[in-house]
Amino acid sequence: MNLKVKIGELTLKNPVMPASGTFGFGLEFKDIFDLKNLGALVVKTITKNPRLGNRPPRVYEVSCGMINSIGLANPGWDYFCEKILPQIKDLNDILILNIAGESVEEFQYLAREAQRFDEIKALELNVSCPNVSKGGIAFGTDLEALKQIVSSVRKIYSKTLIVKLTPNVTDITVYAKAAENAGADALTLINTFTGMVIDVKSKKPILGNKHGGVSGPAIRPMAVKMVYDCFKAVSIPIIGVGGIDSKEAALEFFLAGATAIQVGSQNFVEPGFMPRLIRELGEYLQEENIESIAKLTGLAHRGEENV
Ligand SMILES: Cc1cc2nc3c(=O)[nH]c(=O)nc-3n(C[C@H](O)[C@H](O)[C@H](O)COP(=O)(O)O)c2cc1C
Repeated sequence: MNLKVKIGELTLKNPVMPASGTFGFGLEFKDIFDLKNLGALVVKTITKNPRLGNRPPRVYEVSCGMINSIGLANPGWDYFCEKILPQIKDLNDILILNIAGESVEEFQYLAREAQRFDEIKALELNVSCPNVSKGGIAFGTDLEALKQIVSSVRKIYSKTLIVKLTPNVTDITVYAKAAENAGADALTLINTFTGMVIDVKSKKPILGNKHGGVSGPAIRPMAVKMVYDCFKAVSIPIIGVGGIDSKEAALEFFLAGATAIQVGSQNFVEPGFMPRLIRELGEYLQEENIESIAKLTGLAHRGEENV
């Protein structure tokens, strides 16, 4: 029974990692379980300069999930690398830094900085945040901007490069192929769906930023389809994310074509969910007599021409 998977040049001991922004920098969770159990540690998006984020309220629970408009609140690169990185570098062997920028130059700056640190093993480019006015989703929905960001970071960054895409497009496979062609080693699918909640008493939008990103089980069927479609369109590994709250939900993503998965909103519901999931995936392989989790990737495509 083998839970190991490969993403770019990295071998992960298992395919489970937190989704950026739902696990902080890991520090709040380190007393709940040993973070070394995770396949990788993905941290909250870091930008070059500190960001306060959007006006509150920024998070609201909806049926089958939540909506947030955090707006990439983070302490900025200098603070992260001086104060946070030393505290988290030993929490897991594979630290994945998620970055965002308001310009191609900011992405390049952060990639150059990240390249200097041995403890940062991979970059995840957040070109998909729906909650910021500059960059974010605007980059992820503009094919030319996406190509430019990925290829310019690729020139600077020689380690594993992961691109996290937005679902807020008509055909995500076009963006997946563009990211692959521009030099991505892997894709993370997907970020949140834009959405809105309105308070019927005040008759106004609930979130301070009016709209936000919907996550949780509500988005899972759409996320699974996007992984399924992109599996046929690209040949780089896919990290599936969107509403994973059980072993069965995680398995859907593997069968659709994911090599690894991320857990987001469920971390707020059950902080110890990820170690339980890792254990249950191992038990599932044993029960089903499947030698390796990698064998599940894309199995739902069996019988189709392209597989
Ligand atoms: C409160 C919150 C904050 C988030 N912050 C980030 C972020 O900083 N960077 C990022 O790439 N994605 C961010 N996301 C998106 C998640 O990483 C993930 O793509 C999304 O929530 C879907 O997964 P889920 O349904 O398992 O939550 C955030 C999501 C939530 C709920």
